Amino acid sequence: MSPFFSKGKPARLGFMISGAGSNMQAILKAIEAKHLRAKPVMVFSDKKDAKGLVRAAKFKVPFQTFSPKDFSSRNAYEREIAALFQKSEVDLIICAGYMRVLHQPVLQAFPHKILNIHPSLLPSFPGLKAQRQAIEAGVKISGCTVHFVDEGVDTGPIIAQSAVAVKPGDTEETLAKRILKAEHALYWRAIDAVLKGS
Ligand code: GRF
Repeated sequence: MSPFFSKGKPARLGFMISGAGSNMQAILKAIEAKHLRAKPVMVFSDKKDAKGLVRAAKFKVPFQTFSPKDFSSRNAYEREIAALFQKSEVDLIICAGYMRVLHQPVLQAFPHKILNIHPSLLPSFPGLKAQRQAIEAGVKISGCTVHFVDEGVDTGPIIAQSAVAVKPGDTEETLAKRILKAEHALYWRAIDAVLKGS
């Protein structure tokens, strides 16, 4: 995919978050531990009070927040996001709990350069409340998926997946916790694979 990343300078990562940012933190730890050769350069959140921003600050990664409400249109909002990441010379955008669908202004500025993690084995259970969907469907195995972002909702090409057992008596919360642990192990490895072109 992008074998040129494996040589030369570490790839510059930009993050998009809306909440806790525990996936972002797991990736930042992998970078710190030198398991993943990359440089985190910018974190964007659409929520000013996202807990993940505190985590970004702890790792000394610059962050910016603004929301669609601050702009006259959704396109204007997304153009600002694209400009932010272009200014930071980001090579790859890592969506990690960013709770909005991305549209053309960002997708066109970073073609095939945007990754997302979703808490199900896609194509099963796309969209919101994936863990609840899994419980309600009665599946015995769920998991998480890292995929490239396209204009659909959780429809882009799949990069990596990890299976997680759904146990008897699981609630949405207990399953979400088990899947989140798998997400933390999976995401940085999937980024590594993309950067190495494997
Ligand atoms: C994760 O379950 C992720 O799959 C989904 O949103 C959650 C984000 O968690 N897209 P965190 O903000 O990384 O802790």
